[in-house]
Amino acid sequence: MTSNLHDFIRGLPKAELHLHIEGSLEPELMFALAQRNAVQLAYSSVEEVRAAYNFSDLQSFLDLYYAGAAVLQTEQDFYDLTMAYIERARADNVRHVELFFDPQTHTARGISTAIVFAGIARALREAKAAHDFSGSMILCFLRHLSEEDAFETLAAALPLRSQYADLWNGIGLDSAEVGNPPEKFAAVFAQCRELGFRLVAHAGEEGPPAYIHSALDVLQVERIDHGVRAEEDAALMHKLVQTQMPLTVCPLSNLKLCVVSDLQQHNLARMLRAGLCVTINSDDPAYFGGYMTTNFIATADALALTREELIQLAKNSFCASFAAPEQKQQWLNELDRYVQNH
Ligand code: ADE
Ligand code: ZN
Repeated sequence: MTSNLHDFIRGLPKAELHLHIEGSLEPELMFALAQRNAVQLAYSSVEEVRAAYNFSDLQSFLDLYYAGAAVLQTEQDFYDLTMAYIERARADNVRHVELFFDPQTHTARGISTAIVFAGIARALREAKAAHDFSGSMILCFLRHLSEEDAFETLAAALPLRSQYADLWNGIGLDSAEVGNPPEKFAAVFAQCRELGFRLVAHAGEEGPPAYIHSALDVLQVERIDHGVRAEEDAALMHKLVQTQMPLTVCPLSNLKLCVVSDLQQHNLARMLRAGLCVTINSDDPAYFGGYMTTNFIATADALALTREELIQLAKNSFCASFAAPEQKQQWLNELDRYVQNH
C-alpha cells in the first residue's frame, strides 16, 4: 500500500469502541508506576517486559495483563494511564472512545471502585474540555468470576452513577471466555438493562458462535466485542447482517492471541464485504503491538482494503457508538469533509 493511504488512515476521523484501559499500560509507565508505588515487578527492564509479550492464547495474555495492573493504585495512576491513552488516540485522530475498565481487577487488590472512576473520569473530562475529544466508560464484569461477584461490583459502582452520569453509560463482559458463557451473567445483565445501561459483551473471540447467540438473545447486548467466530454459523451471519449488529473487531489482538495465524487469514474483510457492521479497534494496544492507526494499516495492508472500505470502517465506528444521534451526525460530517479534502 502507498504511504499516501497510510497517511489517509492516520488522519481519518474514527471512534474506538473496544479498548481496555488497563491494556493500554505501556511497559515504560508500568515501570514508572511500580517505582512510584513501591511495587515489585517480576521484570528488570522494559525490554524484558516486552519480550514476555509472546502469547499462545487469551489466558496466557490475561495472566500478564492482570499482573501488570497491580501497579495501578492511586487516582493519579488511573489518570496518567488514561491520559497516556488519550494522547496516543488523538495522534491517530480518534475522536471518541468508549473505554472498558475492570473494577474487579482493582478491588481484588484493595483499590476502591471510586478511585478507579475518579482517575479515568478526570482524564476524560479534561480531554473533552481541552481538545473536544469525547469519551465514555463501560464497566466490565470479569466472566471468570461468579455472577454474585458481578452483582457486588455493580452495587459498589451504582452510588457513583450520578457523579459520573456524563461518562458511565455501559456494561460489558470480558476475561476468559471459554467455559464462561454469557448466560452465566443473565440475571446481572437483566438488572443492568432495567437500570438503563447500554450493554455489550465479548463473544466469539475464542468461544463458539453459540456464545454470540446467547450474548444477543439472553444478555440482549447492542454490540458484540470480537465476534470473529460468527463466520462459522451461516444463520448467525445472516442475522448479524439483517440487524446490522456491530462487531468490534481487534485484528492485532486476534493475531497476538493466535485467534488467527496470519493477518492475511483474518476474516475482517470477508465480514465487511458480506455486509456486516464491522469496526476496527485495538483491544489492549500496549500488549498487542499497536493503537488504532497501526491496526488499520496492518489490516489494510494484509487484506488489501480499499479507500472506500476504510471510509466505511470509520463510518461504522461512529454509527455503532452509543453517542447521541446529533453527535454522530457531526462526526459523520467531519468524516465527509475529510474524505472530500484527501
Ligand atoms: N480483557 C482484556 N482484553 C481482553 C480480551 N481480548 N478478551 C477478553 N478479555 C479481555
Ligand atoms: Zn477486549
